[in-house]
Amino acid sequence: MSTSNKTTFSSTLGVIMAAVGSAVGLGNIWRFPYICGKYGGGAFLIVYLCFVFLLGATLMMSEFVIGRRSQHTPIKAFQALHPKKAWGLLGLLGLITSFFILSQYLVLSGWTTDYIWESISGNLAALGSDAGAISNYFAQFSTNALRPVIAVVIFSVICLVVIMCGVQKGIENVSKVLMPLLVLLVLVLCVRSLTLPNAGKGLEYLFLPDFSKLTGEGVLAALGQALFSLSVGMGVMIVYGSYMPVNDNVFKTAMWITACDTLIAILAGVAIFPAVFSCGFDPAGGPGLVFCVLPNVFNNMGGAGIVFSTIFFLLLAVAAMTSAISLLESLTATLLEHAKVNRQVSAVLFFLLSSAFGILFSLSIGPLSNVTIGHAHLTMFDFVDKLNSIYLPPICSLFTIFFFGWVMPEADIKDELSNHGVLKIGYYKVFRFLARYVAPLALLVVLITGIMG
Ligand code: TRP
Repeated sequence: MSTSNKTTFSSTLGVIMAAVGSAVGLGNIWRFPYICGKYGGGAFLIVYLCFVFLLGATLMMSEFVIGRRSQHTPIKAFQALHPKKAWGLLGLLGLITSFFILSQYLVLSGWTTDYIWESISGNLAALGSDAGAISNYFAQFSTNALRPVIAVVIFSVICLVVIMCGVQKGIENVSKVLMPLLVLLVLVLCVRSLTLPNAGKGLEYLFLPDFSKLTGEGVLAALGQALFSLSVGMGVMIVYGSYMPVNDNVFKTAMWITACDTLIAILAGVAIFPAVFSCGFDPAGGPGLVFCVLPNVFNNMGGAGIVFSTIFFLLLAVAAMTSAISLLESLTATLLEHAKVNRQVSAVLFFLLSSAFGILFSLSIGPLSNVTIGHAHLTMFDFVDKLNSIYLPPICSLFTIFFFGWVMPEADIKDELSNHGVLKIGYYKVFRFLARYVAPLALLVVLITGIMG
């Protein structure tokens, strides 16, 4: 076995903040609220909570155990825990997935970063409440050859600087400041949103259980969102697990992270939907909601609109940043372990590669939109979006949980969960059942329906 990976977070709080930072991202703030409303509000929420706590947390615990037990980054982690070196390929697949998610994430994060400026400078406010003008503005911006590219570069450079500062000084310290800031920002927006006239309609959309809207598709969406939101299935949590202090309680830590991630997703919904309904808009999904509907909502708030819209885009950028940092860290740390390079070189290399792909994906929305892939003529951005949402994460998650439940020696798992016999693990039987049977089956169903649908 090669030299072990000695970097650690300084405390349990540090682990929680960094992992919550990874988990809380664009998925919580613009994806969760929308699909929650779409698939039946409260009814969806119940299903989502089950998936998050039963399956998402199980996967997260598995990755933490694999990382902390092996003290390695994904490729070597799997190889260290099983004599068949081919398991390293699973680590590699996770890293490839991380790379594509990061490149796509940089594009969306770039838009968010640019919109902080559009908001402060008054450009968004100047569009007034003309919905067409606001959508046009976004369409022109996102298809522009230069502006989104500059935004990608600015955002990635900030992430790079944090990674270059290292695990404790960079990631941990930044997460400890940014995560509380994020909670504060989302709470400010919640208060504003809830005090608008007719706010109740938005809450109804979000929370009133409507079981007739909860279809099979909704159940699958809940499962997919649970995995995506917790950042599991691509080895990032294996890397963070390898940084976990030895006396940390894996179960408790995973539960805290899961609870925080879910709470922030729900708060984001409370911040967004009452405002959208109060202004009489229809909720839209994805970029449409954030870049076309919300600016209109803010412009309807009068003078303070600029303040709230700036806070909102800042919130999004903060959430995106800690997620992007974890993805870049996972790649950087892996190269660090496999090649004789230092952290700075490794970080710069992946920064350059992921920004280059990010820029390419960004251009594929505008000037390069005629370059398409496959029979469906998808642009590069849409292609990678499909890869990142339907194929890669469920495949990686499925193999990871299979490895954990059926391949890794059970004694190692028990030893690691109990901190070498110190902690009681009363939950173990249920956890084991979930990891061996429920999670692989559920993932298989998601994967098959995703591919067929
Ligand atoms: N969890 C992130 C979000 O909610 C997205 C994400 C998926 C992610 N997989 C990841 C972030 C891996 C970091 C690492 O937006």
